[in-house]
Amino acid sequence: MAAHKVICWDCGAEVNDLFVNTCPKCGGLLTVKMDLEKVKEMKPTDLHKTPIGVWRYAPFMPVDVEHKVSIQEGGTPLYTTTALGEAIGCKNTFVKFEGLNPTGSFKDRGMTIGVSHAKELGAKVVGCASTGNTSAALAAYAAKAGMKCAVFLPSGKVAMGKLAQALFFGAKVLSVDGNFDDALALARKMADERKLYLLNSINPYRPEGQKSVLFEIMDQLSYDVPDRIILPVGNAANIWAVYKACMELKEVGWIDKVPMLTGIQAAGSAPVARAFAAKNENFEPELNPETVATAIRIGNPVSGRKALKAIYSTGGYCTTVTDEEIISAQQLLGRKEGVCVEPASAASVAGLRKLIAEGIADKDERVVCICTGNGLKDPDTIINNCAPPIKVGNSVEEVEKVLSQ
Ligand code: F0G
Repeated sequence: MAAHKVICWDCGAEVNDLFVNTCPKCGGLLTVKMDLEKVKEMKPTDLHKTPIGVWRYAPFMPVDVEHKVSIQEGGTPLYTTTALGEAIGCKNTFVKFEGLNPTGSFKDRGMTIGVSHAKELGAKVVGCASTGNTSAALAAYAAKAGMKCAVFLPSGKVAMGKLAQALFFGAKVLSVDGNFDDALALARKMADERKLYLLNSINPYRPEGQKSVLFEIMDQLSYDVPDRIILPVGNAANIWAVYKACMELKEVGWIDKVPMLTGIQAAGSAPVARAFAAKNENFEPELNPETVATAIRIGNPVSGRKALKAIYSTGGYCTTVTDEEIISAQQLLGRKEGVCVEPASAASVAGLRKLIAEGIADKDERVVCICTGNGLKDPDTIINNCAPPIKVGNSVEEVEKVLSQ
């Protein structure tokens, strides 16, 4: 295991009780400080003996490989999306398709590290609140590790595929009267009373695994750093994880510039984007978040302040897209590139389209859009926004007539 400490992101105090989720001294957010001295003597290709995926980057991870709980997460494709790029006016566009992880979202990257760490600690019961993907991932990794799992979901607002996964992997699925923020408050109470080990991204080990998406992008681009990376922002940990990975690569001398990290929120659920527009370092929670992109329907993002730090210190940007823009970008990606992402993931592409149209991003930039989850997670939204199947009789003439229209 790479040497590391858990410290308070706010006051810097070292935290030794690994079952707490906030600083015992000041209540601040926690983070992992990696000791990367040994990595400084290495070069990127020294890691290439291990196949691409989260565990290739073990020297950047705070968990011993001996405790590894893995379903071969990561190693997702980075598509060169020229046709999409031409359609939105930014030729050098790439899509990192996280929907091809084992449970269909980027959450698997965090869970392999989070659940491995839980195993290291001897935890028997793990839990999380979720808009869906985190619960699907935790349920799978808990099953693999032989742990009990409880997931807290906002009632009626979780896409069908995600709910099916959590049920299928044998988690106790608890439907909470309220939104994600309410479900998280309840899960945190359970964790504070030590009834379960919490694997939401407030747990500092989770984002450590999520750093690997940035390491992979750099490997796939042969360390030719892109100008901008765009991500959807919900509970706001992923953009922070990508930022932390950039800082660590800089620290070990593997990159010398950092991409402009750009966060996209749904217009009905946009506390971080509003804080950015007001140039604030903190955000006001949104009480009634609403969007078709249920994965990012979050009003009180736990890592909102960390996300703002990531955006400001890389010269990045943060804005909103409407539900219509999200659905339109989702369809464009499908029809131009054959890639099916869920609505939250399409927010990154919708965001790029808007930034180009408004002249905030330059058409010559090299941009990576991270598409965080698979479209099959939410088939209802896809079907609601496509024309229905065409009824035909059992005759060649009828079919020909339809095809010629
Ligand atoms: N995209 C998808 C598909 C997600 O599921 C999430 C978050 C995000 C983007 C936003 O990432 O929270 O790190 O800013 N889903 C969480 C969940 C909240 O419970 O599955 P973030």
